Amino acid sequence: MSTASPFVVVANRLPVDEVTTPDGSREWRRSPGGLVTALHPIMRAEHGTWLGWAGGTGPAADEFELDGMRLHPVALSAQEFEKYYEGFSNATLWPLYHDAVEPPVYRRSWWDNYREVNRRFAAETAKVAADGAVVWIQDYQLQLVPAMLRELRPDLRIGFFLHIPFPPVELFMQMPRRMEIMQGLLGADLVGFQRPLAAQNFLRLTRHLLGLHPKGPEVRVGDRTVRVAAFPISIDVGEIERLAGSESVRARTAEIREELGNPKHIILGVDRLDYTKGIDRRLKAFRELLQEGTLAVPDVVMVQVATPSRERVAHYQTLRDAVELQVGRINGDYGKVGVPAVHYLHQSVDRAELTALYCAADVMMVTPLRDGMNLVAKEYVAARVDLGGSLVLSEFAGAASDLRQAYLVNPHDTDALKDGLVRAVRVDPTEAARRMRAMRRFLRGHDVDHWARSFLTALGVPEATDALDSVA
Ligand code: ADP
Ligand code: G6P
Repeated sequence: MSTASPFVVVANRLPVDEVTTPDGSREWRRSPGGLVTALHPIMRAEHGTWLGWAGGTGPAADEFELDGMRLHPVALSAQEFEKYYEGFSNATLWPLYHDAVEPPVYRRSWWDNYREVNRRFAAETAKVAADGAVVWIQDYQLQLVPAMLRELRPDLRIGFFLHIPFPPVELFMQMPRRMEIMQGLLGADLVGFQRPLAAQNFLRLTRHLLGLHPKGPEVRVGDRTVRVAAFPISIDVGEIERLAGSESVRARTAEIREELGNPKHIILGVDRLDYTKGIDRRLKAFRELLQEGTLAVPDVVMVQVATPSRERVAHYQTLRDAVELQVGRINGDYGKVGVPAVHYLHQSVDRAELTALYCAADVMMVTPLRDGMNLVAKEYVAARVDLGGSLVLSEFAGAASDLRQAYLVNPHDTDALKDGLVRAVRVDPTEAARRMRAMRRFLRGHDVDHWARSFLTALGVPEATDALDSVA
């Protein structure tokens, strides 16, 4: 085996996609996400290893190097994919942690697979981590790994970050395996959340469920102290600004407006096709505004890009049918020949196309019923180097705490949603630019690099960020 790593990231997914090259061979490419962009310099400088699932259900490929990072695939069997990933992670935990906007499903056999896969991630991590290494575990799929890993390797410095919301005590208490989850997380030295409220929910649970006595942001667990705090995640602002300023994206932006028939107002939605994102709510608001005649095609058109996601999970199938029915009905009732009211793409688009869409959109609708952060909202603001465009943003997205100058709306209240959308459509350009400038100023001081530094400093390893300084 190769030498052990002093810095290890553990996430359900590896930050790579397998692509077919023009000559037909298969190769790995680094995926575009902000997390890997933020951690790449540290990974490279520290000979870091990233453990995760590479997709598929066969045996794991061998460890490999990509862009100076070591990638260590962890295998999932077909049964584990169904019960650990689709089941416990995405039909139990995901809805429960998102305010139970769909009812969480509890199945005992899913839990056994969740524990088994978490044990595998812990065991593989224990093998690749150097003596005294820093290990940073990500997200709800791996909440048992901190305690399992600590038992195997008490020498490690362990951080855990939850990318999704952490629910209030009353909701969390529904979960049949609530004790094990809490104990799993408390194996970390630092447990990080998106928002202070989530950290408070967690601290309350340590008292309520485990009888511990948190003092401020710290809780004693045996002879250890666990720190609990909020670290709102962000994006690689520079990367999106560079794309937005490039000739090719500028040309594509103009082309998109043209292809849409040069409407006065383009409204955009970009999401994974997930029931937490409130896509149905925004379509309902748009439909009512067309019905009343407040907005009209072809002056206004909407573009909704929805990435396929978790397609075998029942909640997602129901949602897709509902959204596609709504889109069909809106277009049937309000579209014209050659000008649909809603342009709906059930597909992923590349970063350049996405940035061009952001730049072409007069109004961006981000309307989740609950969201840990919502990076799309931040990407839209980062893309608007021209200070154009307006953001309609749900109060229930973590991003609402950061992007205060957006049109903040309650997506459960259709009238409020309509009002926010109409105000964003009708705003005068000076006011829109004032709002955009303020949000951009905030983002520039709080990008994903700032997030990674804050977390690692709180974990007590500020030296791990030296690598970030050297590329800054
Ligand atoms: P979530 O993590 O729940 O999917 P976020 O908004 O936080 O929601 O992050 C989604 C990420 O996926 C963003 O970086 C966004 O650019 C990307 N994304 C979402 N929809 C698409 C799409 N249709 N095509 C390409 N990228 C997308
Ligand atoms: C959210 C979760 C991530 C997850 C991503 C995509 O951002 O917080 O952990 O990787 O959605 O979902 P998927 O199930 O495709 O990994």
